[in-house]
Amino acid sequence: MRSHWTNRWAFIMATAGSAVGLGNIWKFPYMTGTNGGSAFVLVYLLCVALIGLPLMMTEIMLGRRAQRNPVDGMAHLATEAGGTRWWRGVGYMGIAAGILILSFYSVVAGWVLHYVLRAASGDFSGMTATQAKDQFSNFVANPLALLLWHSVFMFLTMFVVARGVTSGLERANKIMMPSLVVILLILLGYSLAVGDVGRSIEFMFRPDFSKITPAAILSAMGHSFFTLSLGMGAVMVYGSYLQRHASIARAAFYVVLADTAIALVAGITIFAIVFANQLEPAAGPGLLFQTLPIAFGRMPGGTVFATLFFVLVGFAAWTSSISLVEPAVSWLIENTALTRARAALLVGGLIWLIGIAVLLSFNEWSEVKLFGLNIFDLFDKLTTNILLPLGGLLMALFAVWVMHAAHAQEELALNDRHYRRWLFVTRFVAPSAIVLVFLNLIGWLPFI
Ligand code: PHE
Repeated sequence: MRSHWTNRWAFIMATAGSAVGLGNIWKFPYMTGTNGGSAFVLVYLLCVALIGLPLMMTEIMLGRRAQRNPVDGMAHLATEAGGTRWWRGVGYMGIAAGILILSFYSVVAGWVLHYVLRAASGDFSGMTATQAKDQFSNFVANPLALLLWHSVFMFLTMFVVARGVTSGLERANKIMMPSLVVILLILLGYSLAVGDVGRSIEFMFRPDFSKITPAAILSAMGHSFFTLSLGMGAVMVYGSYLQRHASIARAAFYVVLADTAIALVAGITIFAIVFANQLEPAAGPGLLFQTLPIAFGRMPGGTVFATLFFVLVGFAAWTSSISLVEPAVSWLIENTALTRARAALLVGGLIWLIGIAVLLSFNEWSEVKLFGLNIFDLFDKLTTNILLPLGGLLMALFAVWVMHAAHAQEELALNDRHYRRWLFVTRFVAPSAIVLVFLNLIGWLPFI
C-alpha cells in the first residue's frame, strides 16, 4: 500500500511548502532586480496565470491518476492511453532536473544557515556596504565553510525524506509553513513602518517595457516554473499521494496563490529596505546576503529581525528541497529492494557530491566555464530555463493529446465550462507560449 496524505490540507500545505522556497525569497527579488523590475514581474505574473496554474492542475492530475512515481507513472498512463512507454523519459528528465537543482539549491541554503548564525550573533550591527560585501565574498571564497553548510543542509533534507510521507514530509510542512507566513508578515509590517514601500512598489509594478528582452522573458518564464516547482515531477509525486476525492483545481489554485503572494510580499519587503537604505537592487545572487545585513544592521531590533528572517528562508528552503528529491527517492523505492532510508542516503550522497562541484565554482573553480557559464550558473540556467519548461511542455501535451479526455476529465472533476477552459489553455495557450519563448530566444522570432 502506498502512503497518502492524511487530508487535503496536508497536500496543499506540502505542495505550497515545495513551491515556496529560495525561489520566492532569494531568486525572485534578485532576478527582479537584475532584470530591471516591473517588466520582469509582469511577464512572470502572466506566466504564472496562463501557464503555471493550468500546469499545476495537470501535474497533480497526472500524479493522482498514476498513483506511482513520475517515471513509472508516465509509463503507466501512456500504456493506459495506448501511447508509447517512452513517455517515461519525462520522469527521468524530472529526476535529473531535481538532482541538479538541489545540488546548487543546497549550497545556497547552506549560505542561509550560515547567515542565521551570523545574524544571531549580532554581527550585522553598524555594518557598512563594503563590510557586508567583503563578508559575503570572503565567505563564498572559502570552500570548506561552504562544504560544511552544504553538508548540514543536505543532512537535514535527507533526514526528513528518510522518514517518509506522513511522519516526515507532512509533519515538517505542517509546522514550517504557518511559521513562515507569520514571520514574513512581521517583516512586512516592519518594512511598512521603516522602509520605502512607495519606491519598492513603483519599482516592481510600474511597467517599463524598455527593459524587456528575449532573455528576460525566458528568465521570467523559467522562473515561473521554478518557483511553482513545475515540470520536474515534484508536484506529480505529491499528487500521487493525494486521495481520490480531493478537488485538484482548488488545491492548485491555493498553492499558486500562496506562492505568488509570498514572492510579492518578499519582493516588496526587500526592495523597501533596499531603497530606504540607498542600496543597489541589481546586486545579483548576493542581493539577500550583501544588502539585507546592512539594512538590518541599521535598524532598531535588527538582530532579532535578521535572525527571524534567515530562519524563515531556511525553513522555506527545507520544505522545497524535500520535494526536489522525492521523485528520485520514490522511483528507487518502487523499483528496487532499497528501503526509504537507504534510497534517501543514496540520492542525498549523489547530490552532496555534485554540490561540491557547485560550491567550488564560487572559489577554486570559478574559471571553469562551459558556454561562458560557471558550474553554478550552468546548472541554474540548464534546469530553470530549459529542463523545467520542457518537462512542463511535454506533460501538457501528454495530458491533452495522449491521455483519454474522459480520464483527464474524471480526475479533474471540473464542470463543463471550467474543463473546456483548462483544455483550451493546456492544449494551445501554454504549449505555444513555451515554444514561442524558446524560439524567440534563439532568434528565430525576433519579436522585440
Ligand atoms: N519551488 C522551489 C522554490 O521556489 C524550488 C523547486 C523547484 C522545488 C522545482 C521543487 C521543484 O524555491
